[in-house]
Amino acid sequence: MIVAGRAAASETDVTIDQDSAAWRQRLSARAAAAPASGIAEVMRHGFGRAGIIPLWVGEGDLPTARPICDAAAQSLARGETFYMPQPGIPELRQALAAYHDRLYGGLFGQAFPADRFFVTGSGMQAIQIAITLATGPDDEVLVPTPAWPNFHAAVGVAGARAVEVPMHFSPSGWRLDIDDLKAAITPNTKAIFVNSPSNPTGWTASEENLRGLLRLARDNGLWIIADEVYSRFTYDTQRLATPSLHALVAPDDRVLFVNTFSKNWAMTGWRIGWVEAPPAVGPAIENLIQYATSGVAVFMQRAAVCALNEGESRLAALMERTRKGRDIVVEALGKIQGISFASPGAFYLFFRIDGVTDSTAYATALIEDANVGLAPGSAFGAGGDGFFRLCFARDPETLALACSRLADRIARP
Ligand SMILES: Cc1ncc(COP(=O)(O)O)c(C=O)c1O
Repeated sequence: MIVAGRAAASETDVTIDQDSAAWRQRLSARAAAAPASGIAEVMRHGFGRAGIIPLWVGEGDLPTARPICDAAAQSLARGETFYMPQPGIPELRQALAAYHDRLYGGLFGQAFPADRFFVTGSGMQAIQIAITLATGPDDEVLVPTPAWPNFHAAVGVAGARAVEVPMHFSPSGWRLDIDDLKAAITPNTKAIFVNSPSNPTGWTASEENLRGLLRLARDNGLWIIADEVYSRFTYDTQRLATPSLHALVAPDDRVLFVNTFSKNWAMTGWRIGWVEAPPAVGPAIENLIQYATSGVAVFMQRAAVCALNEGESRLAALMERTRKGRDIVVEALGKIQGISFASPGAFYLFFRIDGVTDSTAYATALIEDANVGLAPGSAFGAGGDGFFRLCFARDPETLALACSRLADRIARP
């Protein structure tokens, strides 16, 4: 047991342990069963260490741009401190519609309507709402893995079950086999979670992949929860965004998009995102927002409007820096014997080290011996063990230093 960052030893600590076991038994089964994050476990080990290079979490090292912060401060100064409409302020819903028009050139042959967009208190809350809309107790959701563990855990907290469908790794790329998904469908299956570009593998669905997924969902009456939070992280400089289900959906398709301001505009600490859904589902979403947070603070929504309307050039600069980071880690880790990885996407390199089977233990050793923090692949479900996730959304010099430390440590037995 860890108490305030140190190993427990005293008798008092033992008492606390027994107390927490007793309290655990009083909790609902769902709350007690919510799993701890395997990423947090490794982070706890290295957090606060002098000189550590932390590449374990999914965020960059740049603060939110000044104009976005100013928009929030000005809103507060104007006295915008009251309750607001549950689905979000009209200006933000409209700005989201216009943003999607710029990216995808409209939907169903028309401009995106603002009433498809619902503002949430983070991408994570968008996911919770999507899960609640699509599933109930004992329902199943198919999740291609390795996958971001929060989705899996949130399905469990909602009383449903995430069914892992492992993807196939080779250095030429991760592959999702639609037949594997098909074989995992049971009468209880209600939804498929599709995260492209993927955290952690970087797998980025082609249009053909997306067509296959949509066909499967249509044939089996399933929802798709489409997590496209990294869609702007495209390494094809001819595109503004990676291939999206937006280009393929029909009005009748059961697709819920979840997204966030966290990644594109360096706003991870703000906690604001959105769900995009057929407007007919709107009343249900508004009720779910009402009974969870009753809406997102207006000053945050003003900041989000600013990000959408004025943030494009900053996003381009962020992408340029992230591309550099990607090149650095690909080149440096590509030279290390015994390491394999597919071409990275989103802002993650997900690599395997030959002979390593316990990635949590090895990630802990990397903290001790190399002072570099990575997320262990085992945290991302079936197919992840033996892998490590490295976030390269950081400054190039730090990344180069991290890679040289990793190379030295991995070369040792
Ligand atoms: C795949 C994926 N979806 C959703 C989110 C949620 O983002 P947030 O809750 O920070 O808005 C994250 C964050 O890391 C993510 O990696």
